[in-house]
Amino acid sequence: MGTIRVGVIGCGYWGPNLIRNFSSCPATEVVAVCDADPARLEAIGRHFSHVTRVGSLDELLTLPLDAVAIATPVSTHHALAERCLNHGLHVLVEKPLASTVPEAMALLDLAERCQRVLMVDHTYLFSNSVRRIKAIVDSGELGDLYYVDSVRINLGLFQNDINVVWDLAPHDLSIVDHVLGREPRSISAWGCAHADPRVEDMAYVNVDYDDRLLANFHVNWLSPVKIRQMIFAGSRKSLIFNELNATEPIKIYNRGIELGEGPDERRQFLINYRSGDVWSPYVEPGEPLQEAVRHFAECIREEKPPLSGGALGLRVVRLLEAATRSLRAQGGRIVLSHSHQGATTHGFADSRANGSSQIHADRPGRPAGQKRRPVRVR
Ligand SMILES: NC(=O)c1ccc[n+]([C@@H]2O[C@H](COP(=O)([O-])OP(=O)(O)OC[C@H]3O[C@@H](n4cnc5c(N)ncnc54)[C@H](O)[C@@H]3O)[C@@H](O)[C@H]2O)c1
Repeated sequence: MGTIRVGVIGCGYWGPNLIRNFSSCPATEVVAVCDADPARLEAIGRHFSHVTRVGSLDELLTLPLDAVAIATPVSTHHALAERCLNHGLHVLVEKPLASTVPEAMALLDLAERCQRVLMVDHTYLFSNSVRRIKAIVDSGELGDLYYVDSVRINLGLFQNDINVVWDLAPHDLSIVDHVLGREPRSISAWGCAHADPRVEDMAYVNVDYDDRLLANFHVNWLSPVKIRQMIFAGSRKSLIFNELNATEPIKIYNRGIELGEGPDERRQFLINYRSGDVWSPYVEPGEPLQEAVRHFAECIREEKPPLSGGALGLRVVRLLEAATRSLRAQGGRIVLSHSHQGATTHGFADSRANGSSQIHADRPGRPAGQKRRPVRVR
């Protein structure tokens, strides 16, 4: 196979990053870009004048392409990806994969039937920091994991078709899915809408795994400061990932508690505090999106399943959907079954117990029937 010919759909905020990375990847070339907004096409033309620019998917599909990358609003992912897969193209779709669990499942099935690569751009899986974190957790250096605490807050780019959970949490949920390699038992979420009463702009999402492991995710578009931090706390050591620290993004703390050994000490809850070294492993610099694009090309060439394929995309969408149901039930805990379908709300009455939530009949994170209103600020 020669150079993989790529079309990029959606040239708003994120699309140009895909265009730049597919252009610089030796295995791929950007043949065309597509955007419904002529102003965006014009802006792209100023930087990538050699690339064909079209205003609709119909036009794009007349061009000789091997693959597409989709960077449009989440509500459009399913329809665009479905058409491209049916057209015989490999698809890289931005996170999250789709706006409902049934949509995500349909794409997974379709890609399988068409034997095309379906990859979700869960970009962090391709970051050297996350790779290093996974290696450290897998090595057992942290001991038994007690909890994961994740904070992703900023004065954010308000989205008009999704709430803050759908916008920001896919990053952290995909990292934790990848690092832990196991699925949660239940989820609950608590949040609030301030700028637009219909779109939550801050939320706390709490996920419970068996084995006394909890994960908490704080996502927020209203914070005056930018924090991107994850703590993986273990029985032996704890790891802190601070993405904003370019030179030392990972620090490992040899600090924690030690329970007394003997039965008497245990009965009296004698706890010792252990204080030891803090060290920072070297993390090779590199742009995760460049690695994601390279991986997508490799999967097409070698006909292998991607690291962030449709199955991971579906798991993340399932959590996002359940989190939004819980938000609407004031934090009611949703028990997750791993059948791709079942989820029941505990603590609050919820008639949507089969997992195909009505909440998403309109927009993810937007109650059914409410109209979309532009609230984006840049
Ligand atoms: N991986 C990451 O780190 C990351 C970062 C930011 C955004 N994203 C994802 O990228 C996607 C796009 O986000 P964004 O912030 O760039 O949005 P955006 O609104 O800035 O851009 C979307 C673009 O898509 C175009 N568009 C919409 N519908 C279209 C259609 N049917 N056909 C062609 N063009 C269409 C719009 O005109 C717009 O230019 C989202 O899924 C978002 O979650 C991913």
